[in-house]
Amino acid sequence: MHAPNNPPEIDLRAEFTRFMMSYKFAIDEVMTKINILREEFNHVHDYNPIEHVNSRLKSPESILEKAQRKSLEIDTAVIRENIHDIAGIRITCSFLSDIYKIRDMLARQVDLTVITERDYVAAPKANGYTSLHLIVSIPVFMSDRVEQVPVEIQIRTIAMDFWASLEHKIYYKYNREVPVTLLDELKDAAATANRLDLKMQNLHTQVRQLNASADAAPAGNEGTVPFGDLERLIVPKALLDSLAEQSPRPAPTEASDA
Ligand code: GTP
Ligand code: MG
Repeated sequence: MHAPNNPPEIDLRAEFTRFMMSYKFAIDEVMTKINILREEFNHVHDYNPIEHVNSRLKSPESILEKAQRKSLEIDTAVIRENIHDIAGIRITCSFLSDIYKIRDMLARQVDLTVITERDYVAAPKANGYTSLHLIVSIPVFMSDRVEQVPVEIQIRTIAMDFWASLEHKIYYKYNREVPVTLLDELKDAAATANRLDLKMQNLHTQVRQLNASADAAPAGNEGTVPFGDLERLIVPKALLDSLAEQSPRPAPTEASDA
């Protein structure tokens, strides 16, 4: 809004403040959505795909630096159109499949539009970086206008996050000129992290299948045993028999209701 008696620099300053606030509000809105999913999962489902969530608002200095680097006109409309990571949210999850589960849950929400998706999980960067990047747009309702504000959401596993934070530190420690041997080792570490993710995903899938069959089993089913936090684990008869042979204790067939 233009106040008629203000000098232009005061108007510019007010406009920039509103511009920055719109990104802060957009972060607040998306964080609320993520927190709702998180709480719902805690209460209704058997596990929570969201481990941690962080957000950051790019500083005005970094915005101007990026605008200059991209040779953009210093104008809020031009910046909004061309710089999409002013509002940033990072979601860390346990398993590979959670990345897409979280993406789908967000994309299904009617007031959130996915503008671009970059899947560095399916196609990692040359240095080994993996994550799913979404640019989403969300309406922010202010006193006199509605702005569609872009937010960058990065979704990654704990292993991917571990790798990315170390790589980031190394990159800046060497002032972007990382020695080749270290780059090779980082790439190797990324492959190791990826193998761990695949292994954990596989274990997770197996445990869920076991849980599903335990749930489907009739009550009092012989051959089920308590297993830590899992409600019940179905153990094949042959395995139970072989355990009974090896152990002087009675086979654990009666302990199914613990
Ligand atoms: P920027 O201009 O840096 O925002 O890159 P971009 O717009 O081409 O987007 P891109 O998807 O490549 O990267 C966006 C963000 O992802 C970066 O700001 C980082 O937070 C993260 N990122 C991308 N590549 C890497 C990487 O190689 N290492 C680490 N640690 N983070 C990365
Ligand atoms: Mg970016």
